Amino acid sequence: MTLTLARPDDWHVHLRDGAALAAVVRHTAARFGRAVVMPNLAAPVTTTALAADYRRRILAALPPDCRFEPLMTLYLTDRTSAGEIGRARASGFVHGVKYYPAGATTNSDSGVTGIERVRAALAALEEHDLPLLVHGEVTDPQVDAFDRESVFIDRVLDGIVRGHPRLRVVFEHVTTREAVDFVRAAGPRVGATITPQHLLLSRNALFDGGLRPHHYCLPVLKREAHRVALVEAATGGEPQFFLGTDSAPHSRRDKESACGCAGVYTAHAAIELYAEAFDAAGRLDRLEAFASHHGADFYGLPRNADAISLVRERWVPPESYAFGDDELVPFRAGGTIAWRLGAPGGG
Ligand code: NCD
Ligand code: ZN
Repeated sequence: MTLTLARPDDWHVHLRDGAALAAVVRHTAARFGRAVVMPNLAAPVTTTALAADYRRRILAALPPDCRFEPLMTLYLTDRTSAGEIGRARASGFVHGVKYYPAGATTNSDSGVTGIERVRAALAALEEHDLPLLVHGEVTDPQVDAFDRESVFIDRVLDGIVRGHPRLRVVFEHVTTREAVDFVRAAGPRVGATITPQHLLLSRNALFDGGLRPHHYCLPVLKREAHRVALVEAATGGEPQFFLGTDSAPHSRRDKESACGCAGVYTAHAAIELYAEAFDAAGRLDRLEAFASHHGADFYGLPRNADAISLVRERWVPPESYAFGDDELVPFRAGGTIAWRLGAPGGG
């Protein structure tokens, strides 16, 4: 069976920098027309000037005939000024500003330490109609790791959305029924991305016959009832939910460690994995809307004019990819993937 769909976009990806960027970017560019590139480099992308430099490095890492477009983001800090938000909007290549609670995840040390510190920046985002992209987890060590997303809604996100009635917000990589319900209730100016691993796996996958570091990401996988709620949201045809892989490469050394990094690498098979999840739900007919329409509509960008095709045919991803001076273990390494990417435009 072959499925043809308008070329999809990835509305949340980590491309890294340097040798890591060179190793991974072709996977994203082979599938997606555009991708929202996260700014959490070791030295965070906090200004429009830094985003312009990073954008040039991404384009330089691609083959010359490649039409992939990186959509850049700024990293919100306690010191981000309203002027910087205005410059970002005027640039035309910055499409959102990412809110990391300080300490919540990889390279988030420069993130926001308190909502009161970013009031002026949020007002500027609202004024310039530039979306706020939110990593929605509290960092309070008293809060159970599996509850950090739902507690973030009550303690922080609900206040942001109510306090800024015109601000557009993307609740990134939602993982719980509470998050799905919040997004629905908030209406069309709040969107959400959903990753392939959260559609395909419950938290049991972290402990399947032993500890599985390559299934560890943030927000962490949740129990099965939450996975079911995410599948309903993704496959339900609701325009607020769209594709965002959160593909987050880390070296094997950093993953298979006594204190392993959070992040699952899915860019090598991203749209194929979503096809599996939609197929399992009997809703392949809704994949195109989720993958190729809803995100572009939310961001106010045109939908891609070209197409990709997917073939229901098993293949085995490599055990690892070269990754700088180490290697990268992809999702399903050593296993099989049920769909493969066909020739561009169908057939
Ligand atoms: C991301 C990373 O490695 O940059 N990790 C992850 O588990 N998702 C950061 C993030 O998006 O939280
Ligand atoms: Zn991410």
